[in-house]
Amino acid sequence: MNVSLRAPDRAEAGDRAEFRDAVLAGLARSPRAIAPKFLYDARGSELFDAICELPEYYLTRTETGILTGCAAELARLAGPGCALVEFGSGSSVKTRLLLDAMPDLAAYVPIDISRQHLDATAGRLRRDYPLLRVEPVCADYMALEALPVDVNGAPRLGFFPGSTIGNLEPEEATSFLRRARTLLGDRGALVLGVDLKKDPQRLHDAYNDSAGVTAAFTLNLLRRMNRELGATFDLAGFAHDAWYDPVEGRIEIYFRSLWPQTVTVAGRTFTFAEGERVHTEYSYKYDDAGIAALARSAGFTIDRTWTDPARLFAVVYLEAAL
Ligand code: AVI
Repeated sequence: MNVSLRAPDRAEAGDRAEFRDAVLAGLARSPRAIAPKFLYDARGSELFDAICELPEYYLTRTETGILTGCAAELARLAGPGCALVEFGSGSSVKTRLLLDAMPDLAAYVPIDISRQHLDATAGRLRRDYPLLRVEPVCADYMALEALPVDVNGAPRLGFFPGSTIGNLEPEEATSFLRRARTLLGDRGALVLGVDLKKDPQRLHDAYNDSAGVTAAFTLNLLRRMNRELGATFDLAGFAHDAWYDPVEGRIEIYFRSLWPQTVTVAGRTFTFAEGERVHTEYSYKYDDAGIAALARSAGFTIDRTWTDPARLFAVVYLEAAL
């Protein structure tokens, strides 16, 4: 019998194999680590949306407030007729602030790895902005070197909000921005959202909320391994650990074994000592000098920075340095 997989099934099988290989390699390594992108299965994405609503998680609210205030100026800086390119568009909620301020865009190009997210977002935007040309690109924006759609020579304005740049290690952040610089071209610009360094207690609280949603987000990775890889993690045996390291300027997030235990993952056995941690995320925080150095290292200059009155968060307008 010739059993062929439908394209979405093939994609799902490929995703699962990638997840399995990454988990097995990450648990075999010392120190143990699993990349943050695996936190975002359907439940993980829902939990992240819930994090964005938490009283302690000021990032989303603050960035939205800044964008609301600066959208008109940002539209003036970008000029008429540009193509807006969003890296990792998700549900494109903040994008609407820019779309509303830029009614004469040549096109909106959301780039996202999730076909489902992308199609749903494109459908909603086409309904709400009937005159807007929406050109979704299903791809890993971290690896994209060129734009696979034709925007008829329009200048390109990149959008990378949410301080997702903070989840990249500094070298990864530089190489992502270098690729974005190439993709956006010499006439291009980039709007970047960056979480700022601040009182460590405030940062600690943002990643250790009292309702336990961030802990559920981290531990959902164990649920995902149990479901997709036949793993045997006992969720009661692990805890979420997050703290701010002021020397590195980053939040570090792990899951930690509460007692000595053995877990099977995809047929392989792993032993955890009491207190042993598996790293899941960094969230780097920047100051003005750090943002300037990052921009410079990737071939951008800072044209304009907007912050909230408490200087919790920054939205930066970067132009291609020639
Ligand atoms: C997506 N990213 C910017 C979040 C952050 O703040 O680093 C991810 C997150 N992890 C736990 N809480 C939020």
